[in-house]
Amino acid sequence: GAPYIAYRDGELWVEDVRVADLAREHGTPLFVYSATAMRAAVAAYQRGLQGRDALICYAMKANSTLAILEVFARAGCGFDIVSGGELERALRAGAAPQRIVFSGVGKTRAEMRRALDVGIGCFNVESRAELDVLDEVARERGVRAPVSLRVNPDVDAQTHPYISTGLRDNKFGIAHEEALDAYRHAASLRGLSVVGIDCHIGSQITSVAPYLDALERVLDLVEAIEAEGIPLHHLDLGGGLGIEYHGEHPPTPDALWQALLARLDARGHGHRRLLLEPGRSLVGNAGICVTEVLYTKPGSSKHFLIVDAAMNDLPRPAMYEAYHAIAPVRPRTEPPTVWDVVGPVCESGDWLGRDRALAVRPGDWLAVGSAGAYCMSMASHYNTRGKAAEVLVSGAQAQLIRARETVADLWRQERALALD
Ligand code: LLP
Repeated sequence: GAPYIAYRDGELWVEDVRVADLAREHGTPLFVYSATAMRAAVAAYQRGLQGRDALICYAMKANSTLAILEVFARAGCGFDIVSGGELERALRAGAAPQRIVFSGVGKTRAEMRRALDVGIGCFNVESRAELDVLDEVARERGVRAPVSLRVNPDVDAQTHPYISTGLRDNKFGIAHEEALDAYRHAASLRGLSVVGIDCHIGSQITSVAPYLDALERVLDLVEAIEAEGIPLHHLDLGGGLGIEYHGEHPPTPDALWQALLARLDARGHGHRRLLLEPGRSLVGNAGICVTEVLYTKPGSSKHFLIVDAAMNDLPRPAMYEAYHAIAPVRPRTEPPTVWDVVGPVCESGDWLGRDRALAVRPGDWLAVGSAGAYCMSMASHYNTRGKAAEVLVSGAQAQLIRARETVADLWRQERALALD
């Protein structure tokens, strides 16, 4: 894609802003995002879906900072949410409730009530038990809840087991062979109104094939369900499209949609309203995390580079052994050394990159790449480390969209000991 985050004149820029200037002004660790990169990612989906009745529901779990949600809301996106907290964030960012879909296996009654009260677009229901509870909650409120059932197409998305969700043996969705019966049940409940069908087969998917497999399986179900007189207005194919972290070559959204639409048309389903729930592919490569080198610690077998960002800021390497590129903000012309880049947290799992050749000195800034998705939104306070600050860049403008947390922020909800 276009180089929204790239080197110019010997240093790293995000659009027309020098990363070094932002690091100096706001300190580190610091997340910096390109709004133009996010808009371009949405546009790639929109191009692929041109001329179709389609809605892109940004899966905000990938990055739910309010200003980022505003960027997507203004670009015409709806939202895929998974909690009452995400619902409030989406509303706060100006999302139209009818453009929100509510996913997740464990919605509480309180979350259902609130979503019904604001007029949410659809509940993506994940079990029969949830159907019954939602029916009850909706009847109590004298409304009908719009529902789609998340079906489990049992395809292998060929991704990391922790982020693969379409296989039979995981907690998500309703098994393919139980789906028809679940739809009959849903259609019989007075508090529900069946509006669609959905699936989501996993995350960081780098080929078209698993999507086509899932689509075929879902269309088989659509035909069986409609044959029973239960009309489905929309088809939600979830998210999951991967990004390039390190040498992967995922299809572009346009290419993916070309293949899927061709299959939909061939089977006579081209008229259907389409929903999708991309997260990572809209924000992942739109962001970096800037960190300062604190110490170099050469050893006999390994050399460590200790930086001020850690697993609480960037949990993906520790959780999934994920690879994130690490590059100097201002490259030096010295010969590089091979380092393990690690954070200050007291865990051996607190590493950001292994065996990275870098020419750096203490005080230098490094940029951790592909940090727009599932980094800040998964950040924690472990070791009483406040969450990093976030800056959004658009052209030559930069705005602080999240101030760095202070220690007082961290213990605000705590109470001093009052017992004897
Ligand atoms: N829809 C549903 C129902 C989902 O569960 C997810 C992600 C998405 C959409 C968005 O998927 P995406 O387009 O972002 O792949 N923390 C992990 C990723 C977990 C994904 C969970 N579900 C990571 O850092 O790789």
